[in-house]
This record gives sequence, C-alpha cells and structure tokens, in this order.
Amino acid sequence: MHDRDSRLPEILIPAEDIARRVTELGRKLSADYTCAVARNVGAEELVVLGVLKGAFMLVADLARAISIPVVVDFVRAASYGSGRVSSGDVRIEPIAWPYGEGRDVLVVEDVLDTGKTLEAVVRALEEFRPRSVKTLALLRKPAAKWPADYVGFEIEDTFVVGYGLDDAGKWRQLPYVGIPCDGGERR
Ligand code: IMP
Ligand code: MG
Repeated sequence: MHDRDSRLPEILIPAEDIARRVTELGRKLSADYTCAVARNVGAEELVVLGVLKGAFMLVADLARAISIPVVVDFVRAASYGSGRVSSGDVRIEPIAWPYGEGRDVLVVEDVLDTGKTLEAVVRALEEFRPRSVKTLALLRKPAAKWPADYVGFEIEDTFVVGYGLDDAGKWRQLPYVGIPCDGGERR
C-alpha cells in the first residue's frame, strides 16, 4: 500500500509537449529581441529573471532555447505558504541588481494564477528603471488578470504540480505537469 501522497500525479502536459513549446518560445523570444536590439545599437544582453522556486526548471530549458546573449538571474517570491490557494500576500526578497539602468528584462514564472506574483515582481523592478519588462509564464489559469507577453499553455482552474511546480514542496522534480492524485482539489 502506498501512502496517498506518494502516488504519481496524473499527466496533464507530457514532457515532450513542454519541450516542444519551450523550444518554440525560445525561438520566438530570440526573434523578437533580435528585432528590438537591432533598433538600439549597443544594447546589452537580455536579463532573464526567473521567479523562484517554481521557474527553476523552465529557466534552465528556456535559456538553452534562446539564441541571443542573455544573463540569467532569479528573484525569490512566495505567496502560497503550504496551501493550494494563493494568499494574495506576495513576498518578494530584495532583488540584487548589478545590471544598472535601462535593461531589457524578461520575467519568467511557472504559472499565472491570480497574477499577483508577476505584478509584484514587475513593480519591484521599477526601481532599476528597465528599458523594457516582458513576462513569460509556462502556464496560465483562466482567472489570471496579468496579461503575460508569452504563455506556454492555457490550463483550467485546477491545482497542478511538476516541472518546477510544487504541492507543499513536493513534486517539483517531475519532468511533466500533472494533477495530484486527489484531483488537484483546492485546500
Ligand atoms: P499568483 O500570484 O496567484 O499568480 O500565483 C502564482 C504563484 O502561485 C506561482 O508562482 C506558483 O508558485 C503558485 N501557484 C499557482 N498555481 C499553482 C499550482 O497549480 N500549483 C503549484 N503552484 C501554484
Ligand atoms: Mg509555489
């Protein structure tokens, strides 16, 4: 008999689909930013800023799918605690910013639920006076108010895990996005 929580989540988005989509997004980003850079002679590398912890796997794959020069960095944010419903109270750790002003930044998030986390990160970046801030989320739920510039997959309003996403710290290591065995019920 397995403990209920140790049964593998059911596959919602297979690893191959994620890989294909991340490659597409990397190509699109590279093309979009190449055009932008071409209009601004001497522009510096794109700053790819992952939101920890959920975006760690996505950033690793996305960075390899981008063909223009980037710097990779992370910001740590949390809104969930250990539950499955966003508390709405987003905490962002102070951002170390050695990049100066006027940079192009791409904020990379695992999932857009209410959108409060991305909004808070984008606001926190204002103090560094970036030239542009765009956002990318692997997943987007229907309630999301924040209009991300790049989205991997639109999904239903259900709780998912895997490919960086966790359920109270568990299942981040799965290569696919799945639904916990209890059906992803909010609690
Ligand atoms: P938002 O601020 O409501 O958009 O929530 C975004 C954050 O909540 C994400 O960065 C995730 O860490 C977490 N989150 C939202 N939905 C899920 C989910 O289905 N599974 C795991 N974490 C989630
Ligand atoms: Mg989380």
